[in-house]
Amino acid sequence: MTEFPKKSVYVETYGCQMNISDGELMEGILVDEGYEVSSSPEQADVVLVNTCAIREHAEERVLGRVGQLYALKKNRPEVILGVTGCMAQRLGEVLLKRAPYVDLVMGPDGYRSLPEQLNKIRTGANSVPSRSPKKRGPQLAVLDLSIEENYEGLTQRRSSQVGAWVPIQRGCNHRCTFCIVPYVRGPEKNRKSREVLSEIQEIAESGRTEVTLLGQTVNSYESEGVVFHDLLRSVARIPGIRRVRFTSPHPNDVTPELLEVMAEEPNICEQLHLPLQSGNDMVLRRMLRRYTVETFLEKVQLARNLIPGLSLSTDIIVAFPGETESQFEDTLRLLREIRFDDAYTYKYSLRDGTPATRFPQEYFVSKDEAQNRLAKLIEVHRSIQAEINEAEVGRTEEVLVEKEGRKSGQVLGRTRRNKAVAFIAPADAIGTYQQVLLTGTTGATFMGELLD
Ligand code: SAH
Ligand code: F3S
Repeated sequence: MTEFPKKSVYVETYGCQMNISDGELMEGILVDEGYEVSSSPEQADVVLVNTCAIREHAEERVLGRVGQLYALKKNRPEVILGVTGCMAQRLGEVLLKRAPYVDLVMGPDGYRSLPEQLNKIRTGANSVPSRSPKKRGPQLAVLDLSIEENYEGLTQRRSSQVGAWVPIQRGCNHRCTFCIVPYVRGPEKNRKSREVLSEIQEIAESGRTEVTLLGQTVNSYESEGVVFHDLLRSVARIPGIRRVRFTSPHPNDVTPELLEVMAEEPNICEQLHLPLQSGNDMVLRRMLRRYTVETFLEKVQLARNLIPGLSLSTDIIVAFPGETESQFEDTLRLLREIRFDDAYTYKYSLRDGTPATRFPQEYFVSKDEAQNRLAKLIEVHRSIQAEINEAEVGRTEEVLVEKEGRKSGQVLGRTRRNKAVAFIAPADAIGTYQQVLLTGTTGATFMGELLD
């Protein structure tokens, strides 16, 4: 019998946790079809760049990278170069025209058919004529969004032995006026709770002890009468699972019931990401966030009352169209009042096709002004974060060791409150829980000492 060499794939992922998880899904789908996963593009027959469309900057980086990867084809014209994910969905066939060396563009709902589409490209089995007689086959665009594709029944190839991302929901039913996600990932689609729970049982049996449930508005999850806090409680009780996290919740669906489940279940970490976006009601209204500063503050208060020691993180956008200097100052003030442990900070980035692009021209904040606001915001956030973290030095925390650190002999891990800690420990500590004394902080992360 002739032994055919195995086909191999390299997936390079940009963007959010959902996208990282999608990268693992694509690898899993292809491994099931007999592919090997390569750790570098030079060794792979199929190279997929799994992209993000959330901000312009993210897209520019990817376009540059795809251009670089084109070089692989000079020596090996048979390499298939694909662009997947949100930017592929957004630019679609425009991307194939702009980068004629790209063989495949595939949006986030197309991955189930990945092996089949790659075969089509390989064999040229498509009625569209090839763009060049020297090339194998035609370029392919797989861009249909689906109201039901939730990738049930497919295996994700998990790259970490310690923790696992588990998408429970895809797409989003909101229409925040700045956001491209609903247009590139379609409407909200939830998986059946039964399937989610059995997947997490398998994750636990594989020895992984931490799971992070993923969704664009993860806490609006509902399937066959099971709502998010029910699912969360069941996940937290699966034997072998010691830490449960979820991201990203929408503030409006942070209910007292959810906070009570978080407070009652010892395996759910004292950590909540609560995207604020702006500290001014007018801006929030223009963003169509559907909450006010007051209702947001009520949620924060309730969460902190019910869950002692809760660590809070957020997302903030500055220079949204129409944001005045004083409205921006409101955001700074609110940051000082709430004191988030962590904040992801962004300048507004215009995304074609989103409602915010239609604001009058004079609403748009200049680049320089946007940059100034971002710099101020980061400064305020960093000083708050440093104060919070300095006050935590001297505590002993349970750390789940995730990977080796940059310095030799060092490992990196996280506390239950999702704070990163670097400390000296043998590499075989990876995957274990350790008591670690926090001995210092850089402001954002901690240095620690392993206790016996
Ligand atoms: N609910 C989703 C939001 C995805 S986008 C989730 O967190 O899973 C993540 C963050 O990117 C948003 O919360 C927002 O702060 C930021 N963002 C989204 N669109 C943006 C844009 N056009 N410009 C700048 N920041 C944006
Ligand atoms: Fe985007 Fe708002 Fe949904 S930020 S992902 S439209 S909740």
